[in-house]
Amino acid sequence: MAQTRPKRLIIDTDPGVDDSMAILFAFRSPEVRIEGLTTIFGNVGVEQTTRNALRLVELAGHPEIPVAMGAPKPLTRPFTGKGWEVHGRNGLGEAEFPEPEGQPDSRRAANFIIDTIMANPGEITLVPLGPLTNVALAVSVEPRIVENVREVVLMGGAANVAGNASPVAEANIRNDPESAHIVFHAGWPLTMVGLDVTEKTMMTPDYLDQLRAANNPFTDFISAITPHYLNFSKRLGLNGFPVHDSSALAYVIDPSLFDCRPAYVEVETRSEHYSGNTVPDWRGQRGQEPNVNVCVDVDSDRFLALYRERLTGVNA
Ligand code: RIB
Ligand code: CA
Repeated sequence: MAQTRPKRLIIDTDPGVDDSMAILFAFRSPEVRIEGLTTIFGNVGVEQTTRNALRLVELAGHPEIPVAMGAPKPLTRPFTGKGWEVHGRNGLGEAEFPEPEGQPDSRRAANFIIDTIMANPGEITLVPLGPLTNVALAVSVEPRIVENVREVVLMGGAANVAGNASPVAEANIRNDPESAHIVFHAGWPLTMVGLDVTEKTMMTPDYLDQLRAANNPFTDFISAITPHYLNFSKRLGLNGFPVHDSSALAYVIDPSLFDCRPAYVEVETRSEHYSGNTVPDWRGQRGQEPNVNVCVDVDSDRFLALYRERLTGVNA
């Protein structure tokens, strides 16, 4: 049987407990190859997310993978997010790790994104897992990345469900709505893996115990960073936490896990209370061509089995 080549990824990320779990999922999946991590403010500040990204490539045994530091704040407004309450002050659930040995790439994230996409036409899948500032900057500076990227698969937005950062907005979009507006209207193939699907998949304490039992460096790291995150969810009355960023990676690895529908999606930027709302025009009343492939359902059991198999090496 012909072997398909791995998809080549740039992951733009704010690690972050769930970002870290998503990046480790990618490292353990032969369908994808990480070409670089670009970092962004979000769950914690960008200096910290950059240190965490460097830790992750070293943990995975790939210190040669570039980590390029990105924007410290949204495009046009001050940053007011409180992700550290969810992810801990170090973004890794307050677990302590040694400082990474490596240094960030000399380029800023937006330049790294531009250089890598333009040097590899049609090859790079861009996977944003945080606020979209770096991606908006990249496409504004070099609009030709739109024709040269393979596709963009982002974690963010809420089409048919309530928000998690406000009554209507998902956190990554809420943290920089102006950038999200640019990215949603750039004209590239864009898949939105939002709360509609990420909140349907829950990692329960029992599931996390199954990961812990594998006792390898990846699952040991996950066991160290998840208790704080799990406690936050417990305070919301949940038995486990929703699987946000790994859902975007799952879509890249196996799109058949998801049901998606094309729609014209607008990002609200002006309203004080509703900015960051991603509004799909399901009935085509605006008369616009769809700009987003919106994920609306997921086979959670199959996804969780895949994640467990990849992280533990056991096909249970
Ligand atoms: O709303 C979930 C998103 O916000 C995830 O990307 C999580 O890491 C946080 O940034
Ligand atoms: Ca994230």
